[in-house]
Amino acid sequence: MKVDGKDFRSIWYNSDTGKVQIIDQRWLPHEFRVVDLTTRAAFVTAIADMWVRGAPLIGATAAYGVAVEMARDASDASIVETWDVLHETRPTAINLRWALNDMTALLMPMPEEERAAAAMQRAHEIADEDVECNRMIGVHGLEIIKDIAAKKQPGEVVNILTHCNAGWLATVDWGTATSPMYHAHMAGIPVHIWVDETRPRNQGALLTAWEMNSHDIPHHLIVDNAGGHLMQHGQVDMVIVGTDRTTAHGDVCNKIGTYLKALAAQDNNVPFYVALPSPTIDWTVKDGVAEIPIEERDDSEVTHVQGKLADGTVGEVQISPDGTPGGNPAFDVTPRRLVTGLITERGICDASPEGLAAMFPERVLG
Ligand code: MRU
Repeated sequence: MKVDGKDFRSIWYNSDTGKVQIIDQRWLPHEFRVVDLTTRAAFVTAIADMWVRGAPLIGATAAYGVAVEMARDASDASIVETWDVLHETRPTAINLRWALNDMTALLMPMPEEERAAAAMQRAHEIADEDVECNRMIGVHGLEIIKDIAAKKQPGEVVNILTHCNAGWLATVDWGTATSPMYHAHMAGIPVHIWVDETRPRNQGALLTAWEMNSHDIPHHLIVDNAGGHLMQHGQVDMVIVGTDRTTAHGDVCNKIGTYLKALAAQDNNVPFYVALPSPTIDWTVKDGVAEIPIEERDDSEVTHVQGKLADGTVGEVQISPDGTPGGNPAFDVTPRRLVTGLITERGICDASPEGLAAMFPERVLG
């Protein structure tokens, strides 16, 4: 999508320098920094420390990490070790395991001397496939927004609430939850987005708000606790969120706080949609609450916040008393009964074993 009018992806291969580049998201929206990732260790740090984040982008970054490592050491042992060190970086987003398995299955049967080129080629494909999946999510999600708009007065705004950043920065391009918003905006349907700030790391305030600003999509930043109130007062027509892992039965794991939004949505008859490319489905698990590992992050993310300081630099302040420990589960699970529908690249389905099986009949349910 656009940054100051120029097209960007969140990760790309610079053919002039032969290096993989990313937008270092830790500094947004206050500073736009692009960095090279040239070693496996740099990829590990970039994912673990959230220079890049968002399930689909984590997967694509891992694929490029494998490719860069193959250029250094393409042995069987290196493939196995690379799977391990990258897989350890973040436990919840399933796209990471999906991309590492995909790369490993491709590379292992191949002669060593062919692996580096094949790995880079496949990493490009994974990135491109993500872009196309997300574009199609937008095409399908647009139909839901059109239906809501058709029930309103001509020109009346469709209000959409989203949580965290499931925007283009969380993917290679388009975003998942944001793709239908962009498509509606481009189709001339007036949309307005309620952007949850998304404590503790404020991905909504820092990233989604920046994305909306950059494309002139009307939006307001709200605190995480405002959604229920807005729904009670008829100010939310639908919710669209992303997901880090969706089970074969349709439970949805996403950024902490998503579950509370789904509860409020159900209590107020607000449709609650989840947008996801198919690599975000974990076909090996059924019960999200019982089976999905939830990442616990450092408590400093809760006790401190980062922002632009009075002198214009980006810095951090402590907001809690000295000595108060923070608790920081990074994700929660929304049971499928609270999900109106899953917006995938193939279309919209029920969040149920039957709905997912009908949409992806080639998959064997776990
Ligand atoms: O911790 P993060 O910033 O990686 O969490 C991101 C999310 O929770 C997104 O909603 C999810 O990855 C879907 S991204 C299209």
